[in-house]
Amino acid sequence: MPTTVLTFAEKKRRGEKIVLVTAYDALTATMVHNAGVDAILVGDSAGMVFAGYDTTLPATMDEMLYHTKSVARGAKGAFIIADMPFLSYQCGHDDAVRNAGRFLKEGGAHAVKLEGCDPPLVTRLVAAGIPVMGHLGLTPQSVHVLGGFRAQGKTAAAQARLREQARALDAAGCFAIVLECVPASLATEITQTLEAATIGIGAGPGCDGQVSVINDLLGLSTGYVPRHAKRYADMYNQGLAAVRQHVAEVRSGVFPAAEHSIDMPAPPSAATLDTPR
Ligand code: KIV
Repeated sequence: MPTTVLTFAEKKRRGEKIVLVTAYDALTATMVHNAGVDAILVGDSAGMVFAGYDTTLPATMDEMLYHTKSVARGAKGAFIIADMPFLSYQCGHDDAVRNAGRFLKEGGAHAVKLEGCDPPLVTRLVAAGIPVMGHLGLTPQSVHVLGGFRAQGKTAAAQARLREQARALDAAGCFAIVLECVPASLATEITQTLEAATIGIGAGPGCDGQVSVINDLLGLSTGYVPRHAKRYADMYNQGLAAVRQHVAEVRSGVFPAAEHSIDMPAPPSAATLDTPR
């Protein structure tokens, strides 16, 4: 059964975990779809893990649309959630509706995700036919306001604010809400009080589902690995070893070998030549 927004509610009701993984290109989208995820998030984490920026802030509408279209081509039949990039929805609701609509109309997405708490915007997008996933806690587009990529909800006041925001987004019509880097006990409590499904990342096992950045799962990165991420492969180092071997083989003449080379067709023998009658 293909995923729809109703699947999130159904799975929450049945206590079945919901699995989301990010993808930014067609091939990776094919891979995660064939692996059986419930939905693919075209995250603006693309700005960091794909484009190499230090934050998600530089990701643009055009870039996110390009990633979304690529994912939609690679994972036909998948439920695709496109992340709205920084300043594509913060400068006015008309602008936000037009930008969100482009992800469905041009990008092939089925829903959008937005960071922070703007319930009237969520209601307006849903009324326009655009399903919305919220995102609370560590919201990377606010990295400079938060003073860094830091866990959130560590004081009683911050926890009260998160509970309040989650309730407001739920009431406004979000079908799901990402809870990023908040205490596990708080995420569990919020999960139990909302209709919307909660999707955790660094928020413990009590959420209705989990979202993971594909590069973290595959070990396809260098440097910092978030504490909440689990690596299931070591693709950066495997790729590095493979390319190093290739470099050495080209330099030593081992590659290309005969089987990688194209021969001229053998000249026809005298017996097979057409002879004039
Ligand atoms: O951009 C992204 O990949 C995200 C997830 C980490 C939730 O927002």
